[in-house]
Amino acid sequence: MNISGKNAIVTGGGRGLGKAVALALANEGVHIAITGRNEENLKHTVEEIKNLGVNAVYAVFNVDDEAEVKKGIESLGEELGGVDILINNAGIGDFGSIEEMSSETWEQVIKTNLFGVYYAAKAVYPFMKAKGEGDIVNVSSTAGLKGGPNMSAYAASKAAVVSLSQSMMAEWRKQNIRVITLTPSTIASDMSIQGGLTDGNPDKVLQPEDFAEWVRDILKMNRRALIANASIFSTNP
Ligand SMILES: NC(=O)c1ccc[n+]([C@@H]2O[C@H](COP(=O)([O-])OP(=O)(O)OC[C@H]3O[C@@H](n4cnc5c(N)ncnc54)[C@H](OP(=O)(O)O)[C@@H]3O)[C@@H](O)[C@H]2O)c1
Repeated sequence: MNISGKNAIVTGGGRGLGKAVALALANEGVHIAITGRNEENLKHTVEEIKNLGVNAVYAVFNVDDEAEVKKGIESLGEELGGVDILINNAGIGDFGSIEEMSSETWEQVIKTNLFGVYYAAKAVYPFMKAKGEGDIVNVSSTAGLKGGPNMSAYAASKAAVVSLSQSMMAEWRKQNIRVITLTPSTIASDMSIQGGLTDGNPDKVLQPEDFAEWVRDILKMNRRALIANASIFSTNP
């Protein structure tokens, strides 16, 4: 499918996987809105996106605050003139043992990763309903399919995203909204490198561009086709 001329919002689009997806979609002619907390990153990324010849705007908000998310998404939707695609990507990775991680940190991971996805999707839904179609990509993780040591908060948040996303898919497919649940394995980024999950070696480990090409290709499938759940791994890390 040609996706040129569509409008996409990418949460956490100022850096990492979100930025790579924003650039890959812009290369297809998609107009882009990115969100995050760091305005400098957002400004730089918006300039990079505009150089690809599409409209690009940004909004600064914390995804764990429902009122901020609603206001931010609504203003971006109005600036773009509608929303066709939401990449629900913003998230944090805090790793540590159950006894050592503070309860505040544990709660914050759930708030950001789970409530952030819920608030953004809920705020975008009226735009898609009005248009009669849309695509929502919810970024979970292989950690959401199986927990492991030192990742209890992250794994629980991402498992909840899988479940939320499946419910969203079941409810909204009747409005021609494709809800896609992605469970990528480790990809080189600030989160995975600073979290000690990988050295990010580009000869071995998935890079943000690989993730972005995957998302782009899923979105380009004919609208009758819905990739409901999918994973991606490094071949031989
Ligand atoms: N990298 C991996 O190995 C991997 C694997 C599986 C799944 N994932 C998932 O992929 C997504 C992107 O990860 P990444 O690797 O690109 O991480 P990253 O490099 O750490 O980037 C995280 C992004 O999320 C935004 N963000 C974080 N907390 C936020 C908040 N409270 N409010 C608003 N924005 C917030 C950040 O924006 P600001 O800096 O502007 O706040 C940033 O753009 C996450 O959901 C992550 O869990 C990553």
